[in-house]
Amino acid sequence: MTPEHASDLVARVCALAPVIPVLVVEDAGQAEPLARALVAGGLPALEVTLRTPAALEAIRLMAAVEGGVVGAGTLLTERDVEAAKEAGATFGVSPGATRRLLDAAEANDLPLLPGAATPSEAMALLERGYSVQKFFPAEANGGIPTLRAWAGPLPQVRFCPTGGVGAANARDYLALSNVICVGGSWVAPAAALRAGDWGAVTALAAEAAALPRA
Ligand code: 3PG
Repeated sequence: MTPEHASDLVARVCALAPVIPVLVVEDAGQAEPLARALVAGGLPALEVTLRTPAALEAIRLMAAVEGGVVGAGTLLTERDVEAAKEAGATFGVSPGATRRLLDAAEANDLPLLPGAATPSEAMALLERGYSVQKFFPAEANGGIPTLRAWAGPLPQVRFCPTGGVGAANARDYLALSNVICVGGSWVAPAAALRAGDWGAVTALAAEAAALPRA
């Protein structure tokens, strides 16, 4: 898959809803009800981070939930890309980008949302063909003023800011011309997952799904 095609497909995933939940699933038993709760709230695109032993099984289970579009996050290595693909992920997300990771995503036909934190990183990805990128960690890197400043020289790149984005600032990020969607964990709080409070998750998802975009 070419980087251009990957970015087109990622843009379609981002078009589904203003927010991509970033999910840390500790127990695969949470996967299906969590995915159902988020989809019911209006957030179909889900990123399961490969940070827990349960993550790949969670992707497998969530991929079967009707209406869900399940991706794998925290992809760092070629092996992560292969494992994500094998588990049924339909897109991938990485906090950064290395040549080997990009090669692996392209070779495995996994549309990738690669991360950039500086203009040079964004330019290198754009040079390769990735016009949709994750801006990470968004708040720690200057957040909204930084993205607004990048829109001048880099208008071709659209970003999914992630890291420190939450209910209090998501609306302002989404108002930027170069923000295609945002990512964040706030719609799936660990306490709600532990308690199995799926109603709370659906309520948070519904609020997030209603956020306006530029
Ligand atoms: C991530 O962990 O990949 C995201 O940055 C999530 O960040 P958040 O917990 O601040 O939403």
